[in-house]
Amino acid sequence: MRRVCACYFSPCGNVERTVRTIAEGAAQALGLPVEKFDFTLPAAREEELCFEAGDLVILGTPVYAGRVPNKLMPYVRDHIHGNGALCAAVVCFGNRAFDDALAELYLLAGGNGFAVIAAAAVATEHSFAPALGAGRPNEADLAELREFGVKIAEKAQKNGPVLPAVPGTMPPEKYYTPLRADGAPAKFLKAVPRTDGAKCTRCGTCGKVCPMGSVDPADPSVTTGVCIKCQACIRRCPAGARTFDDEDFLSHRAMLLENYVRPVESLYLL
Ligand SMILES: Cc1cc2nc3c(=O)[nH]c(=O)nc-3n(C[C@H](O)[C@H](O)[C@H](O)COP(=O)(O)O)c2cc1C
Repeated sequence: MRRVCACYFSPCGNVERTVRTIAEGAAQALGLPVEKFDFTLPAAREEELCFEAGDLVILGTPVYAGRVPNKLMPYVRDHIHGNGALCAAVVCFGNRAFDDALAELYLLAGGNGFAVIAAAAVATEHSFAPALGAGRPNEADLAELREFGVKIAEKAQKNGPVLPAVPGTMPPEKYYTPLRADGAPAKFLKAVPRTDGAKCTRCGTCGKVCPMGSVDPADPSVTTGVCIKCQACIRRCPAGARTFDDEDFLSHRAMLLENYVRPVESLYLL
């Protein structure tokens, strides 16, 4: 192997931590450094990501509505090129379910010229409701992720076979419909975060962390483009000035808290 690459989209940091830990395990086993390819921010997605034979790429995205985030999928499909590199496809989900996200990422990576030799669906804290998967990946998860990285490196060195399949509908057909607490569909596609003008110090953090580049740098209370509800601006605002108060969003969060705070295992495939 020539390089170990940690390649990810990670608005709130769980995917980054997960992918980097797997990559570090693999890199240590191979005696190589980890190279980082973070395509979370719009500027990074202006570049093509081209890998090649001899690269081991740990490729990760979060699960949004049971799939690879739909606004990101075209970048993954059209601008990340495997050219014969080995790949571990990794999705992080927030303790509800990963549905068809792993199947989608597996198919995208294979279609892009990667040889997908490993895959994982990793249970992590939910960006909407941190009580789901609270604190994950925790210390035990990180040890498991690192060990998974070591096993991927061993498989890569032995020229192990590609994975024939992963769980999920292939190709995926539907997105998960978020539900309200009363069981009706929760409609919050057009919701945007609210900024509390009394708390906001106009530090610009929300604009810098928005993966869609949708916060007006002159006035953070103005959303200039699409909001994917990733929660990065809310989690990272140092003044705690941003919130989501959309009624359907809050009802969906209540439904998640009611039904999905239970222990969930991650899935590792080699
Ligand atoms: C818009 C959105 C949709 C989500 N949909 C799901 C889902 O369908 N199933 C699930 O278990 N978690 C879901 N999550 C939780 C994320 O997959 C999880 O929190 C992930 O770790 C976030 O990655 P990040 O910290 O790198 O941003 C969703 C999160 C967001 C923001």
